[in-house]
Amino acid sequence: MARSKSSSEWLQKHFKDQYVLKSQKEGYRSRAAYKLLQIQEKDKIIKPGMNVVDLGATPGGWSQVVRQFVGTKGKIIALDILPMDQLAQVEFIQGDFQEYSVLEELLKVVNNEPIDLVISDMAPNVTGVKVVDQPKSMYLLDLAIDLADQVLKPQGSLFMKVFQGEGFEQLLAQLRQRYQKVITRKPDASRSRSSEIYLLAKGFRD
Ligand SMILES: C[S@@+](CC[C@H](N)C(=O)[O-])C[C@H]1O[C@@H](n2cnc3c(N)ncnc32)[C@H](O)[C@@H]1O
Repeated sequence: MARSKSSSEWLQKHFKDQYVLKSQKEGYRSRAAYKLLQIQEKDKIIKPGMNVVDLGATPGGWSQVVRQFVGTKGKIIALDILPMDQLAQVEFIQGDFQEYSVLEELLKVVNNEPIDLVISDMAPNVTGVKVVDQPKSMYLLDLAIDLADQVLKPQGSLFMKVFQGEGFEQLLAQLRQRYQKVITRKPDASRSRSSEIYLLAKGFRD
């Protein structure tokens, strides 16, 4: 099938993107890795020896960054609906996070070990219709918050990608009830035209 003009324009822009070029040069699996690296530089959310859950992990850029800062002692569990090439020291679960059986599998791997940090870059397949896409995205975020409620140790953190729009204020309120501090971030690697921003919730109140 012939490629549309807009999709070849997107591809051209994508391959000229400085973070795409940088990720190819530096061996990161995605340009998204730089978003987490920039957050790490500013907020130091990943520390040696931490146990971390990475939701929406494929192709694995964030998991690579986590591994880099956690060192050899921490436990890293990554989950995605799509397959992910193996990464040393990362336990990967493939499944739809909306399914209860997948949550159960994840909890089994966590094995009651206290988690220091939950990160979520999950984003549903978008239709381009905001009223359809936004609730799907909010639902995944709700599930990430629920998981963090179950696995985080007191004072633990949750870091996640959010699309601004319907439900954003309620989401912030939900986080403020559970965490001592909620900060919004827009790292330089996040395209300015994208409505995505990142929320860092610190100091989980058990
Ligand atoms: C932006 S990508 C993540 C990129 C990743 N953080 C990285 O650095 O390589 C979003 C991911 O969310 C995953 N995702 C979307 N819906 C999901 C669901 N219901 N369950 C699990 N993963 C999901 C997608 O498959 C996709 O791989």
